[in-house]
Amino acid sequence: MRTLIIIKPWAVSKGLVGEILSRFERRGIRLAGLKVVKVDREKADKLYAIHKGKEFYDSIIKHITSSPIVVGVLDICIDDPGGAVRLVRKIIGATDPAKADMGTIRGDFGLRIDRNVIHASDSTKSAEYEIPIFFDDNELIEY
Ligand code: PPS
Repeated sequence: MRTLIIIKPWAVSKGLVGEILSRFERRGIRLAGLKVVKVDREKADKLYAIHKGKEFYDSIIKHITSSPIVVGVLDICIDDPGGAVRLVRKIIGATDPAKADMGTIRGDFGLRIDRNVIHASDSTKSAEYEIPIFFDDNELIEY
């Protein structure tokens, strides 16, 4: 099962990319794709389409387009696809860094909800929607 992660501008600018990726690698989760990109407004709107109209919409768009991000596709080799998404969400922790458990990525490295350190697809359906925003099929490794 594949899912998308985005190491967001605040984390990239703080030099946390390697540290964050290692959290997944140490669990045996492999990278099927990885790139550094500067997101334009069009891609940002597509990524966050589900949040359009919410009060924080402008704030997430502003952050994601502010400086380079690292996008990755994780390949999680377990039988239950829903369980794979839940595992990744458990590793990243609760949305609000102030509420995220220590030991999770957001709990260890985050400070503000409007400058979250990482995004991860929240379902298999969102993973299928989000991955093609950043990757063509031929850019992803089959293990
Ligand atoms: S989650 O964990 O992504 O499923 O959380 P969700 O609650 O759906 O939030 C979606 C993204 O919106 C960001 N967010 C906010 N930004 C600024 N201010 C406020 N109040 C706020 N609430 C939520 C949150 O960081 C999520 O960004 P991503 O990129 O998905 O992590």
